[in-house]
Amino acid sequence: MQELPEHARRNREYWDTIAERYAEPGRRNWSTNEVSWGIWGISENDVGLLPDDVNGLDVIELGCGTAYVSAWLARRGARPVGIDNSPRQLEAARAYQQEFGLDFPLILGNAEKVPLPDASFDYAISEYGAALWADPYLWIPEAARLLRPGGRLMFLVNSVQLMLCIPDLEADGPAAERLFRPQFGMHRFEWPDSDGVEFHLAHGDWVRLLRANGFEIEDLVELQPPEGATTTYNELATIEWARKWPSEEAWKARKVGGRNGADG
Ligand SMILES: C[S@@+](CC[C@H](N)C(=O)[O-])C[C@H]1O[C@@H](n2cnc3c(N)ncnc32)[C@H](O)[C@@H]1O
Repeated sequence: MQELPEHARRNREYWDTIAERYAEPGRRNWSTNEVSWGIWGISENDVGLLPDDVNGLDVIELGCGTAYVSAWLARRGARPVGIDNSPRQLEAARAYQQEFGLDFPLILGNAEKVPLPDASFDYAISEYGAALWADPYLWIPEAARLLRPGGRLMFLVNSVQLMLCIPDLEADGPAAERLFRPQFGMHRFEWPDSDGVEFHLAHGDWVRLLRANGFEIEDLVELQPPEGATTTYNELATIEWARKWPSEEAWKARKVGGRNGADG
């Protein structure tokens, strides 16, 4: 087993501890073919985060958790592989594979160092997985290495605005209409009431990092939940807040080169 960096060791312990909370939501998502995203369950039909056709694509899900995103893609004809850093999350993913009669490879490991060859995938995806819990300066180069020329990347995370507007302590409530911390220097986040280590970048840093790793950016989708949407993550944002400012953002990028790439 490869040595894990300090943040990944801590996040493995953290995710093994909280995995149980994600079991039921994971099961609900496995039970449906309707793709929905993030804390508000925004329908794929409203935001179009996935490629129009995933049939036949080799997909890697980076930080797959219970792997429902991989399950959705497998049912649409893709060949997913899920990697996750938490044995407990993968236990749940394996149980759902059995329960729902779907089989695809699941790897225990760190998405910053994936034990698979270069250029093995057409599509890399992360919904609040590596995109939030792994160091972007390590996992973005790794995603670039794993993708074939012309391959695509989509990741969904908390928005920059949200990360600036939530108080340090969960008990102090959801995102407010004020800034609690600087935007300059955003990278590693540790909250006083959580044992996990998160990573969040400002937009300029995402743009530079993606471009430096051979990606061209296709879209930055700032997600607005529909009126009346609800969330179980009440500690993050109210619907009133999330209707005015993005609480979540999704990046879509393509690795330059290849038939569909920018420079052939
Ligand atoms: C919120 S879940 C993401 C899965 C699912 N989309 C969801 O929202 O429930 C976060 C997952 O990221 C995994 N994770 C954290 N750090 C990771 C890393 N360095 N490499 C791979 N997975 C990681 C955790 O173990 C956890 O299962």
